[in-house]
Amino acid sequence: MRSAIVLAAGKGTRMKSSLCKVMHECAHKPMIGHIVTALKKAGVDKIVVVVGHGADSVKEYLKDDVTYALQSPQLGTGHAVMQADCLKDFDGDTIVLNGDGPCIQSETIEKAFAANESHDLTVLSAVLEQGGSYGRIIREADGKVKKIVEAKDCDAQELAVNEINTGLFVFKTKALFEGLKELKNDNAQSEYYLTDLVEIFNQKGLSANALIVEDRDELMGVNDRVDLAKAESWMKAHINRKHMLNGVTLLDPMNTYIGADVEIGEDTIIYPNVVIFGNTKIGKNVRILSNSFLQDAQIGDDVIIDSSKIVDSQVDAHTTVGPMTHLRGHTHIHENCRIGNFVEFKNSDFNDNSKCAHLTYIGDSDFGKGINVGCGVVTVNYDGKNKYRTTVKDGAFIGSNCNLIAPVTIGENALLAAGSTITDSVDDGDMGIARARQSNKKDFGIKYKNK
Ligand code: UD1
Ligand code: CA
Repeated sequence: MRSAIVLAAGKGTRMKSSLCKVMHECAHKPMIGHIVTALKKAGVDKIVVVVGHGADSVKEYLKDDVTYALQSPQLGTGHAVMQADCLKDFDGDTIVLNGDGPCIQSETIEKAFAANESHDLTVLSAVLEQGGSYGRIIREADGKVKKIVEAKDCDAQELAVNEINTGLFVFKTKALFEGLKELKNDNAQSEYYLTDLVEIFNQKGLSANALIVEDRDELMGVNDRVDLAKAESWMKAHINRKHMLNGVTLLDPMNTYIGADVEIGEDTIIYPNVVIFGNTKIGKNVRILSNSFLQDAQIGDDVIIDSSKIVDSQVDAHTTVGPMTHLRGHTHIHENCRIGNFVEFKNSDFNDNSKCAHLTYIGDSDFGKGINVGCGVVTVNYDGKNKYRTTVKDGAFIGSNCNLIAPVTIGENALLAAGSTITDSVDDGDMGIARARQSNKKDFGIKYKNK
């Protein structure tokens, strides 16, 4: 059985924020969310998140995906792990990791478990130019791991060591909870340090191991906003590389921002300065031109999106969108449609082969197939108190500059004359016209000019 303890009770004072540290986002997802995703991908059966500061926000975000243990007050990383004693009777291994290391990948978690198969404890370490504020890995002359000393407790010789504790450990679960009983807080910060378990394990004749990681940036801990920006840029590079290796062209990976959970099909081309966040899925052979923003969007194959914003909406195959289109609030544009310049859709359905090319607002509406919407059409869906739906049936032609005052239904193959304000439904095949009749005054124009 593989279990995990994620330490997320600290305040993160150095973030200077009202938000607790682990809820700060990288690639548009809270740090703690990345860690839970990686643990699940690595097949961890049970995840305990130790919460304290900001516990409510962490619980509201992770919901029932994990088990919680409350740590209050916060007396150090060792004390935090003691709170997860709901795991103490489990067989197998437990991974302990910090909630402020968002870049950790499932492959590395699997490697850590594998490395601990013949040991009682494995810590992932990294070799840096300088150890900074990290805990130092102190080895015996023969290379065997002896102990970890926190920077604040180091003497000059220990401080010079540049192999550091990344904060990720794997333990034999039973040995972990036995060892915790022996932790003391006689150190510079009067805290119970998880790191002291290395020395305790050695004293008990258990086997402690350190595995040096290749990509030390993957294990970085975020303590302030400078670190957060580093993690963001690491993650962006990692995510973009994954998509490129999967067959997606990014014209300028440095200026392409893709959230961790986005899926993109082969042969899709993404221009510079595009943001794609949330639970977005993009099909094959899609072209997304500069300055587009997509969030929680479902995009079919062979779609073109030009400088547009699509939130919480779906666009099906072979449709073109933009420039400057805004689709939001459960809009569904079906196949082979054309949505053009300065068009906004909200909470509407727009069926196959329909067109809406210029300067239009469509809200709370159901449009059928093969409809043409002229320039400047407005569905008047709101009377200041309530919202009403507009229905337009297959094959209708909506002339330019019409207002459709909802609730109203336009029948199949019906025609609305340009410039009409439509307050009553129009039957199948009929024409609705609602405007003052024109009268022309002979020579008035030239007389007026010469006056
Ligand atoms: C810790 C390690 C250090 C390591 C570094 C790697 C200890 C004593 N030190 O130091 O060796 O190099 O991580 O990033 O373990 N937390 C709690 N409860 C507490 C204290 C902390 O849940 O009482 C959580 C924090 O929310 C955070 C994590 O534990 O997610 C690490 O705590 P932090 O204070 O950042 O430890 P470091 O000083 O960075
Ligand atoms: Ca830290």
